[in-house]
Amino acid sequence: MDGLPNPCFVLAPMDGMTHASFRTICFEYGADGATTEMIQSLALGRAKKRLSAAFAETMIRYPDEGNLAAQLIGRNPAMMAESARRLTAMERFDAIDINMGCPARKVVGSGNGAALMKEPELAIEVMRAVREATVLPVRLKMRLGWDAEHITAPQLARAADELGFQSIVVHGRTRTQMYSGDVNVEALRELCASVRIPVLANGGVTCAEDALAFLEKTGAAGVSIGRAALKQPWVFDDIRRLRAGEAVPKRLAPERVRLLIRLATLACGHRPEKVAISEMRKFSGWLLPGLTGYREVLLALNGIADLEGYRRLLEGYLNGLERANDLEVHPELTPEASLDTVRQR
Ligand SMILES: Cc1cc2nc3c(=O)[nH]c(=O)nc-3n(C[C@H](O)[C@H](O)[C@H](O)COP(=O)(O)O)c2cc1C
Repeated sequence: MDGLPNPCFVLAPMDGMTHASFRTICFEYGADGATTEMIQSLALGRAKKRLSAAFAETMIRYPDEGNLAAQLIGRNPAMMAESARRLTAMERFDAIDINMGCPARKVVGSGNGAALMKEPELAIEVMRAVREATVLPVRLKMRLGWDAEHITAPQLARAADELGFQSIVVHGRTRTQMYSGDVNVEALRELCASVRIPVLANGGVTCAEDALAFLEKTGAAGVSIGRAALKQPWVFDDIRRLRAGEAVPKRLAPERVRLLIRLATLACGHRPEKVAISEMRKFSGWLLPGLTGYREVLLALNGIADLEGYRRLLEGYLNGLERANDLEVHPELTPEASLDTVRQR
């Protein structure tokens, strides 16, 4: 699959989360591939001067990242093509990915993302324009359709196949389902069997066992994992171990705390320190629950705006846990966390 193994287990694109630093952590845990956050083609295709720092940041690639696709969003074929040309000229990405899955109101309201699934002719025009604009492999990310009455994924998958796309990722829900409700495994299975190019299944995977069961049930060429990776970036390592018949380790306090400090350090390398550290509240809130005293640490984070302060707080916390010989995750201290609580804005 041009640089991706079969089967492959990749990190799904998540706006505001899957920047270079978080992707690097997932690659270190063995993710086979990743995609940037979505890049607005209207902004990139028209840009005349230097890009704003925040916009340019969505296109940063860290040296240790593995197979990385840049994701474009837009409905204007000419702008999508121009953006694909510019991304190709950067010589930094392994593929271009087209976003036809985003359900966010502000995105579909302007006819972008999953809204294109209601206009399959235009969607195919966009796909053709991008395919013709770049020498890089092109991928498509979509849902099953807009709603149960408009299931256009089979039509778009056939078009992607005919246009010579590298692969397709399909989130097994419609736009109206947003991020919850049943993933339609049967529809994914039919889609995977209907085209020659590899189809990766996406939606609702909660852990490594789940990812392997999803692969089996859908007959997909791979699995794309989103929200579960935010809470368990090690899910890719767990998958590798399970497939090799090895035991999956418990992820204890030292691994979680060191991971967070490393993530914060990496994030400060590509964005202002204050922004990076403020964002660490989110990641800390996913990785610390279950450890004794984690609530106090999350509260204390509110007063911290620099990397050194973040490191000192977490190292002090870990020292305390080590002295008390209390490194385990306690299920009774873990709030009932549902993946559905993490949604796109
Ligand atoms: C916070 C958030 C941001 C997302 N941003 C994007 C995006 O930029 N591009 C995209 O194609 N999908 C985006 N998605 C959708 C995910 O890639 C994925 O399809 C969806 O979360 C279902 O997979 P999961 O159940 O494994 O999370 C986003 C999802 C979330 C939760």
